[in-house]
Amino acid sequence: MTRVIKFGVIGCGLMGREFASSAARWLHLADTVARPEIVAVCDLNPALTDWFSTHVPTVSQVTDDYRALLANPDVEAVYCAVPHNLHHDIYPDILAAGKHLLGEKPFGIDAAANARIQDAISAHPECFVRCSSEMPFFPGAQKVIDFVQSGDLGDIIEVEAAFLHSSDLNPDKPINWKRMVDVNGAYGCMGDLGMHVLHVPLRLGWRPISVSASLVNRFATRPDASGQTVPCETWDNATITGHVDDAGGGFPLVMKTWRIAPGHSNTWSIRVLGTKKSAFFSTKNPRQWQYMTYAGGAGAWSVEDLGFQTLFPAITGGIFEFGFPDALQQMWAAFVDELAGGDANGFACVTPQEAADHHAILTAALKAGTTRTVQDVIYDTRAS
Ligand SMILES: NC(=O)c1ccc[n+]([C@@H]2O[C@H](COP(=O)([O-])OP(=O)(O)OC[C@H]3O[C@@H](n4cnc5c(N)ncnc54)[C@H](O)[C@@H]3O)[C@@H](O)[C@H]2O)c1
Repeated sequence: MTRVIKFGVIGCGLMGREFASSAARWLHLADTVARPEIVAVCDLNPALTDWFSTHVPTVSQVTDDYRALLANPDVEAVYCAVPHNLHHDIYPDILAAGKHLLGEKPFGIDAAANARIQDAISAHPECFVRCSSEMPFFPGAQKVIDFVQSGDLGDIIEVEAAFLHSSDLNPDKPINWKRMVDVNGAYGCMGDLGMHVLHVPLRLGWRPISVSASLVNRFATRPDASGQTVPCETWDNATITGHVDDAGGGFPLVMKTWRIAPGHSNTWSIRVLGTKKSAFFSTKNPRQWQYMTYAGGAGAWSVEDLGFQTLFPAITGGIFEFGFPDALQQMWAAFVDELAGGDANGFACVTPQEAADHHAILTAALKAGTTRTVQDVIYDTRAS
């Protein structure tokens, strides 16, 4: 029988509602051992909790006090999608209440905040904890991951992982919390997008030992909600080059987290170049992945059309298209499966250790970018 896991949602904005949609269409997935049911919601904005009350009939608790939600004995697990400056207070409180947690990235506004969360995780080994990152669940991304894991790429020449937005190209776009240092963090675009570009490299074991970074704040002011011009101090774009050591002397890991990328709305991509084999996937062209085998002579890319060939089987026919809400649902399937004792069908959500590693890399990148130096990455080994 399918196990039902009762969830509370703290933060009912953009991502909180996406979870509600994933959970509501769980019947889309075939053969899952467990399913999420949202029973409690918390947000400071009543319009958003009203949306849940209207659309999610299983919700029986609505509150603007997350501690009241955590006191609810029916809640077994929590999805927390709140601004970055709140992670280091609310995530530990969730664990102290004995609830399992899928927390949003960046899992703390900075490395010190992440360390507080890691301490809470260590103090509560009975709680299952993962961090959100859905783009690697695209079938094309999974193809690249399988391709790398099957080995024989030869020596790696370069890996490039990118997440590219363009809406900030409009200087009149009003500032929101994601463009405010005190709420989003000093990482700026790296805090918002860094986990997206690091999930796959870290999972494949590519931990840079040092980084340099070019940081860009193209628009230093923006209008606020009232139309008044205010400072906008967060980094718009970061191009980070890490050096990953290997037996052959190592290779560059290039990470682009750009909010100003003309022509891109939400492009996630990964490109792995090896001396024998290479692979590429971009959500810009979501149904195709590319690969190349080089054995001398001309190097020619092969392009394969993919349909709905997902990590977690679904009712959708294999020829049909896969999209962002599907990636989110696949990520949720991985979380729920692991929580219920499964192996996430071989590709788990971001682990606490990976979240800590990503902070080590972003901390070094911020220092490298602001001082125009190369910085060693100091990894914290306490997370597990
Ligand atoms: N995985 C992804 O692709 C993805 C995409 C966007 C955002 N995110 C992450 O999700 C998190 C939230 O981002 P968002 O885009 O949903 O933001 P959002 O602003 O749409 O939603 C955040 C919500 O938190 C609520 N909130 C603030 N303080 C609260 C409190 N004390 N108690 C309860 N609710 C409170 C706000 O009222 C708001 O509705 C961030 O960590 C962000 O980095 C992830």
